[in-house]
Amino acid sequence: METAPAPVVVAIDGPSGTGKSSTSKAVAAQLGMNYLDTGAQYRAITWWMLSNGIDVNDAAAVADASGKPDLVSGTDPAAPTITVDGADAAGPIRTPEVTAAVSAVSAVPQVRTRITELQRAIAAGAPTGIVVEGRDIGTTVLPDADLKIFLTASPEARAARRGGELAGRGGEKPVDLDATRQALLRRDRADSSRKTSPLAKADDAVEVDTTELTLEQVIECVVTLIEDRQRTA
Ligand code: DC
Repeated sequence: METAPAPVVVAIDGPSGTGKSSTSKAVAAQLGMNYLDTGAQYRAITWWMLSNGIDVNDAAAVADASGKPDLVSGTDPAAPTITVDGADAAGPIRTPEVTAAVSAVSAVPQVRTRITELQRAIAAGAPTGIVVEGRDIGTTVLPDADLKIFLTASPEARAARRGGELAGRGGEKPVDLDATRQALLRRDRADSSRKTSPLAKADDAVEVDTTELTLEQVIECVVTLIEDRQRTA
């Protein structure tokens, strides 16, 4: 008789445009696991700061306000949700204003402590295992994760994918790939150089370079890594 696979906690980290979200969501759905988009949480708290007139470049003001918004993440990979004080934040967190401000807000230690606590509680409450994607999941949030994966890709591939995503969202103007590439590299530099839990590969993470791979190939690779881990868990 087949037994249910062991519930494993999987951390998937990497910079923007490596296919992290699409991969994590698809893999979690395929394996019947929960899914948490931690970038959405940082975006949501950033949206709350902007909506409440907090100067996002004033770290002390951001720190003071960091405990105020009520953030709730739904972890069904088929329909992940994020609400702030009960309001659906899925649309507003993807605006250019939020994207431009999120690195500053997520560099504030009090913000990271607050969001890290939420992330650990969600991971601990996932009975069929969870895929958690972000920047510091394997290094800081879940250092004891059963499996850690670090996705990379060349800057050109990442800009092209991010440009494709933006175009797919139906903006009014055509997407400027060079500007997208510059903005993406700027955000990665900020995320990698901040003092508190920067974007980094954990020593025990498996690195997957997705530059030459299709999304389907990345998904297949990650599913295989998780299934192997489930067998030994
Ligand atoms: O994955 P994303 O682009 O939606 O993430 C938005 C920002 O949130 C990213 O620029 C850095 C920050 N972030 C973070 O600091 N730590 C995480 N675990 C996830 C995201």
